[in-house]
Amino acid sequence: MYPPKVGLALLWLPPAVAQNSTNATIDLDWHAPEKSWINDLSKVLHGTGTNGFVFNSSVLPSGTPYGTYNWCNMPHVRSEEYPRAAEGYRLEYVEVIHRHHKRTPYASNTFPRESYRWECSDQGLFYYGQPLNPAGNSSAKTYWSVFTSDTNPFAPSGFNGTCQFPQITREGLDDSWQHGKDLYGVYHALLKFLPDDIGDKVTYRVTNNVITSQVAGMVIHGMYQPEDNVPLRIQPIGVDSLEPSYPCPAASALSSSYGVGSTAPNWTAHLTASKPLFDSLDSISGVPSNSNEWHRSFDHYYDNLSARQCHAKELPCNINDSSKCVTQAQADTVYRLGQYEYSFIYRDAPQSLQASTGSYGVFLAELAQNLRDRIAGKNPVIYRHNVAHDGSISRLLSILQIDVMVWVGMGSEVVFEIYSDANNAKKYIRILWGGQVLQSSNPTLGKIDMLDLDIFLAYIDGLVGKGASKVVGFCKS
Ligand SMILES: *[C@@H]1O[C@H](CO)[C@@H](O)[C@H](O)[C@H]1NC(C)=O
Ligand SMILES: *[C@@H]1O[C@H](CO)[C@@H](O)[C@H](O)[C@H]1NC(C)=O
Ligand SMILES: *[C@@H]1O[C@H](CO)[C@@H](O)[C@H](O)[C@H]1NC(C)=O
Ligand SMILES: *[C@@H]1O[C@H](CO)[C@@H](O)[C@H](O)[C@H]1NC(C)=O
Ligand SMILES: *[C@@H]1O[C@H](CO)[C@@H](O)[C@H](O)[C@H]1NC(C)=O
Ligand SMILES: *[C@@H]1O[C@H](CO)[C@@H](O)[C@H](O)[C@H]1NC(C)=O
Ligand SMILES: *[C@@H]1O[C@H](CO)[C@@H](O)[C@H](O)[C@H]1NC(C)=O
Ligand SMILES: *[C@@H]1O[C@H](CO)[C@@H](O)[C@H](O)[C@H]1NC(C)=O
Repeated sequence: MYPPKVGLALLWLPPAVAQNSTNATIDLDWHAPEKSWINDLSKVLHGTGTNGFVFNSSVLPSGTPYGTYNWCNMPHVRSEEYPRAAEGYRLEYVEVIHRHHKRTPYASNTFPRESYRWECSDQGLFYYGQPLNPAGNSSAKTYWSVFTSDTNPFAPSGFNGTCQFPQITREGLDDSWQHGKDLYGVYHALLKFLPDDIGDKVTYRVTNNVITSQVAGMVIHGMYQPEDNVPLRIQPIGVDSLEPSYPCPAASALSSSYGVGSTAPNWTAHLTASKPLFDSLDSISGVPSNSNEWHRSFDHYYDNLSARQCHAKELPCNINDSSKCVTQAQADTVYRLGQYEYSFIYRDAPQSLQASTGSYGVFLAELAQNLRDRIAGKNPVIYRHNVAHDGSISRLLSILQIDVMVWVGMGSEVVFEIYSDANNAKKYIRILWGGQVLQSSNPTLGKIDMLDLDIFLAYIDGLVGKGASKVVGFCKS
């Protein structure tokens, strides 16, 4: 989901360099991403297909190597492809963050009248409260069973089905379980790093959007099959740094000054050039051509079409004329444009670094604190696992200045690994994106493979300030 559109742009220029106490120079500037088809508007508009990106199944076509972009189920750390650290490095701490797995569309992304039912009656969304300490009366294991009634005049007239929009689908739950199993295969079986029990060394965190809890339960079972209850750490509504949902009007204003909602020609160029595509899609879906929500970006069409295709559903047809359907070529163009938009919003636009630092800096400050606490031995937790959203992972990649930005698909994962060297003299960080070492366009970070942890922390501190102090200042500016 894109940030909400708010107010006017504010200019705020971050300091270009920072220094740690030995005066190593830390480059805090934005650096443009690599050139590829994704940020080449001509190739996006006039190309065909999806350049090898997959949008129609959680399982890659046979012969396609793992690691290939798969919107339905992005690559993550697995023992088969895991790049082992060189001898002499000892793993000290791991923090994982990934997007939830595949789901129905959001209600806002469904067409005014849908020709397709979304069925979720083969799964339950368990939701209940139960006394904990001291243990008391028990709760029945109750779950949500979605229905509408003919008598409720406010029930959605557009579509039938038994899903909440959004909800992780049955297949998305299985993808989540496998994701947990694969991580456990690396950090427990292969590296003998994770303990045999969750205990006090492993924690899980979710956002206030229930779909992340749906994923977390499956992930944890894929890892530990615990018999005991497992806490999911969560911050209060309205200040959640993981989602993120803390208020940062200056970041929202900055991002709508150049991205979604902006009238800047270099943002609107792709929308203007896509008018015939929008017209055709509107005539099939029944979306009003004056709907700002559906035409200020490709977000809604992209979500609508990709959610169907990831679940092997046909592309939609006009509700009155079943011969008028969205073509695969049109869907592919929407998918290319979606990649272009994410690259523009989070990497190509020079303002993206500041916008992301404002809206996601608190999570980075928390991450830095987690790393410091761990290496200082102040906290027993050696593995933190965060289940989040595309808006979380995109901003994180924006701050890390990834070299090639994409629209982060379902399950997209970033892993932070902290190592010490043989004599425990220094600490290092390695960052994995999609299971492989992340390459940054920022020269201070570069290929983030055993980067001096002090340098990484100085980069984060330089941008967000200790305790996110610079974020507070910016958000209120
Ligand atoms: C500052 O960065 C340099 C460069 O790697 C490093 O050697 C040094 O330990 C760092 N100092 C502190 C206090 O963080
Ligand atoms: C860092 O540079 C400043 C200014 O050049 C200098 O005053 C200071 O002593 C230096 N600090 C270290 C630790 O070298
Ligand atoms: C997905 O699309 C690719 C490319 O168009 C096609 O080769 C493959 O058969 C499709 N897979 C499924 C499961 O529909
Ligand atoms: C997408 O739009 C079609 C056409 O109305 C609708 O049937 C479908 O439910 C929507 N799907 C999603 C995931 O929004
Ligand atoms: C269960 O609830 C009842 C009614 O409030 C209370 O009297 C009882 O102590 C509770 N039982 C336990 C085990 O807490
Ligand atoms: C929903 O189901 C009812 C009963 O089967 C049917 O009359 C109605 O047309 C359906 N609505 C849509 C949007 O498909
Ligand atoms: C289907 O036909 C109805 C009645 O003419 C019309 O109101 C509606 O806009 C049409 N829907 C689409 C998606 O064309
Ligand atoms: C878009 O145009 C603005 C204003 O000229 C400029 O600052 C910005 O760098 C451009 N963005 C991209 C991605 O080219």
